[in-house]
Amino acid sequence: MRNAVIIIAWSIVAAGCGTHPIGATATLTRDGGGAMGGGGGGVLPCDVDAILAGHCRQCHQDPPLFGSPMPLATYADLRGPSKSAASVPVFERLHARVHDDARPMPPQPYARLDASELATLDAWIAAGAPSGNGTCAAGDGGVVRGTDGGPIVSACVPDLRVAPSAPYKMVTTEEYACYGFDVPAGTRHVTEIRVHVDNPKIVHHILLLKAPASSSGTPVACNPGPSFAAPMIYAWSQGGLPLVLPAEAGFRQDASTHYLVQVHYNNAANVTNPTDATGFDLCTTSTLRKYDADVVAFGTQAISVPPHATTDLKSCYTVPDAFDGRRFFGAFPHMHQIGKSISTTLLRQGGGAPIDMGTEAAWDFKNQPWISIDAVIHKGDVVKTNCVWNNTTSLSVQFGQNSENEMCYSFSAYYPAAPSIGWATPATFSSLCP
Ligand code: HEC
Repeated sequence: MRNAVIIIAWSIVAAGCGTHPIGATATLTRDGGGAMGGGGGGVLPCDVDAILAGHCRQCHQDPPLFGSPMPLATYADLRGPSKSAASVPVFERLHARVHDDARPMPPQPYARLDASELATLDAWIAAGAPSGNGTCAAGDGGVVRGTDGGPIVSACVPDLRVAPSAPYKMVTTEEYACYGFDVPAGTRHVTEIRVHVDNPKIVHHILLLKAPASSSGTPVACNPGPSFAAPMIYAWSQGGLPLVLPAEAGFRQDASTHYLVQVHYNNAANVTNPTDATGFDLCTTSTLRKYDADVVAFGTQAISVPPHATTDLKSCYTVPDAFDGRRFFGAFPHMHQIGKSISTTLLRQGGGAPIDMGTEAAWDFKNQPWISIDAVIHKGDVVKTNCVWNNTTSLSVQFGQNSENEMCYSFSAYYPAAPSIGWATPATFSSLCP
């Protein structure tokens, strides 16, 4: 069923990589010799092509984007040897991964394939992945779909590009760069945030933070992560979704708003002299919405992970008056490198089944997108955040900003904003669960 309040659009193309259009129908004409087993040419059957176009080619394009290892564009791509095991054709790996609950494709937070899509793929693969007949009606295979499978057309046209005043030039293989951005005069509500990736070959993830003061628009090397002074508004990493705010809420933008953009670069592909001007495209409105939205972090800072051990930490935060009746619509769980899983749940005061407020069952430091949630919390309820780490080193690991330290935060977007509550308040005042 369509969630009426938060719509998270799917498209990375819509999110800004306009140079890589999803070519659903165009791919049908690009036959290639089937590399493995099949031999000869062939085309993808129309129903299979539509599933790949709708759910996979945001990343598995040619050339592949966002860390995906191979294109899923042509019949030959599907018949060829897989990257992980050359003796296994791609279509067999595909079967394994669309059914893999621990490492599903598409990855979280994208919707899994539904039963009929799985049945279509399974039948095709069981039949040995035969060629189609090459005459597909121009379908809607490239249409952007929401988490409920319905097509999404984001109504807004971004009116504010948050970008550096000059491109950043990378010199080593892994760097963090930051730049400041001052917003135009006037009071507005931000209603949607999309990433604008300039150089997808080197951009790993990017954060939009609220800075206390104006800073230079020229990107410089910086420390990773949000800080107590600079809370996070939005984060994007490979495969991440735009953040569409509920219709009655917006992030307030006024004379006191200064953005700080932090980009993590990784030049694993060894691009020569890479530069980048990645930022965000915002939709804003001067017709203020009913509520200001804000972001707080659940979890804890009381972290100490002993060496050579698995630590399972459950922190509980009892909802105070200040958060009574707040609606949470997005979550960004965040740990560092030795994190295994993180899950935030709402336990109602009166009992009942826990309500999911954002879970990464298989934590992956390299892939940290927003998750769409929908939960209204009330005074006396408990928000429980469960973080699990596996420390294989001989050093004890504590809470901290650097990536060799650890975190257990679930940044959570909500409205109406609780004024004068620091973003870290829930995590600071949580305690070990009984
Ligand atoms: C948001 C980006 C994204 C989307 C969408 C996506 N993938 Fe992936 N895929 C990746 C990344 C990144 C990897 C490599 C990491 C991994 O294996 O988990 C990957 C790996 C794979 C692999 C493993 C390849 C191998 O050699 O083992 C298969 C198979 C795969 N994807 C199939 C699919 C299918 C089928 C879909 C659509 C139903 C899909 N993916 C959608 C990003 C994506």
